Amino acid sequence: MLVLSPAPASAHDGPDPIMHLDFRPQQLQGTKLRARLGMDVELSGPLRWSEDEFGHSLMLTPRTAAYAQPASPAMALPATAITVSAWVSVDEPLEWGGIIGRIQDDGDQELGWMLGFDRTVFTMTISTSGADDGNGRHTVLKSTTPWVPGKFHHVAAVFDGQSARLYVDGKEEAFTAEQYGEILYPAAQQISLGSFRDGNEDHRMTGRLRDIRIFDLAAKPEWVRLEFEHGVKVAALAARPVVSASGFAVEPYLQFGTQTSMTVMWRTTQLGSTLVRYGATSACEQELKLPDQREIHQVLLQDLEPETQYFYSVESTLADGSVAESPTYTFTTTVHEQTPFAFAVFGDTQKNPQVSGKLAAMAWAQRPSFLVHVGDLVDKGTLANHWTEHFFPGMKPVAQRIPFYPVLGNHEENAQNYFDYMALPDPEYRYTFRYGNAQFFMIDSNRDISPGSEQFEWLKQELQQSQAVWKIACHHHPPYSSDEDDYGNLWKTRLSTRGDLRARQLVSLYEQFQVDIVWSGHIHSYERTWPVHQGRAVEQQGTIYMITGGAGGSLETAGPFRPFFQNNVKHGHHYCMVAVNGGTMEIKAFDLEGRLFDTVTLKKPAGPSPQR
Ligand SMILES: [Fe+2]
Ligand SMILES: [Fe+2]
Repeated sequence: MLVLSPAPASAHDGPDPIMHLDFRPQQLQGTKLRARLGMDVELSGPLRWSEDEFGHSLMLTPRTAAYAQPASPAMALPATAITVSAWVSVDEPLEWGGIIGRIQDDGDQELGWMLGFDRTVFTMTISTSGADDGNGRHTVLKSTTPWVPGKFHHVAAVFDGQSARLYVDGKEEAFTAEQYGEILYPAAQQISLGSFRDGNEDHRMTGRLRDIRIFDLAAKPEWVRLEFEHGVKVAALAARPVVSASGFAVEPYLQFGTQTSMTVMWRTTQLGSTLVRYGATSACEQELKLPDQREIHQVLLQDLEPETQYFYSVESTLADGSVAESPTYTFTTTVHEQTPFAFAVFGDTQKNPQVSGKLAAMAWAQRPSFLVHVGDLVDKGTLANHWTEHFFPGMKPVAQRIPFYPVLGNHEENAQNYFDYMALPDPEYRYTFRYGNAQFFMIDSNRDISPGSEQFEWLKQELQQSQAVWKIACHHHPPYSSDEDDYGNLWKTRLSTRGDLRARQLVSLYEQFQVDIVWSGHIHSYERTWPVHQGRAVEQQGTIYMITGGAGGSLETAGPFRPFFQNNVKHGHHYCMVAVNGGTMEIKAFDLEGRLFDTVTLKKPAGPSPQR
């Protein structure tokens, strides 16, 4: 019988294990966790430690890989009797979770053993020469006690040549005599930790490893009970899931890309640290950390190459010690001046993540370079959950891959939330940006935009200076609209201002400086005007007014009268995609089923080349 230590990991008076891993930072040498006995473990991915009053444990996420490779045949695992004893905490369910094992279930052959877990309980998987159904079939033992997320359990798998037993927290919970004889090992010698890994599978666990020992003896029930009792204080620690995607109140999204920079943002559910990993490959070899603790995280990545794909992921260690860690995403920096590009236009997503999410997924499938949002991102800007439950979940398919450039709608109510979540040039409510050969002028039409106002004068100056081939202005309220009742009830009278008169104050600037397109929302519908100049539809050299207000808000309808400016109007949820190649611009509009319902191609001489 084995009689062992006041475990885990102190002096003992029983037989030595053939392998003993004590997961603590002192054992780490580079990327190698030195074993107290037996094989060292090679680690890759983010290495983090969890500490409690009794010691340390290694935190594992799907980005962590751990394995041990025997240096010589002498280190081979025992085949006729084995005990695998582990102190472990599991955080996330997996269909096939592995704590430690040397296993294979490819093709016809099921070989080796694994101590693991599934969606609810611990498991022991084993294949032996004497199995009743012939060689090469696994038997999976399942515990009766479910694992508790974030809680340390002691689990032991024992095979004595006659039968296999699985123990949890000192108690035998599963037994089989189906497997007997010798363990059938796969050819690959590698031992996997924290993963069910074989030739074609690698299911990595989320949780913590504290202590693992392998013996070439079959432990008796009494030893397993004592082993648990020696660590009972560890087992009594409060459950503390340490690694979890649920630490994000807002998952990572991108803001204000340029040719050489990108801002990565996210929000955590508690105060937490700020770290972005990024780089040229999915290994994300560069790191940028910010000091201090915060909930809304904003990291500016600089010195990037233009028109280049990057990879990134984010991580925050939260106040309670848990870690929020994102998958690896990509972004692309702003293209060179002459390179074709495309962008999506969304508006009035409001409180409809079902619709905005579907449109966002369709838009991302068309690989836009960025997205313009014409306002009413949310239904009520002052409400925290409208951002965390409506806007960001809806926009997630695009926002984690490309930056979006918004303007304020009336529903934002100028709330601080908007300014906290956006990373735009000061004063944020208005700004301009370049992309390829286009320049965008982003204006807050909720504020004063009359001649002489700060915004009007700023816009005038920016337009005057602009050398861009394409000039696109964007604000929430539409200068021209044929809506049935927003500007006069056209079912009762023939009187309508046919658009927002405040916004129309900017038309003189658009005409003076030959702005190509003005994008608005507010009316939850689609409308495209003919080119307009001095109150008339023209065939050339006018400004086109687009309403793209159909990304979620409840829909509106055109009135019965067709105003001079109207080219195309449509009731229905939608978004626009715009592709630019030199002096050619193609505008397309897609409905909720992905059907193209409007398109127009604009052409002009590619014109003078700005600032490069
Ligand atoms: Fe709206
Ligand atoms: Fe609005």
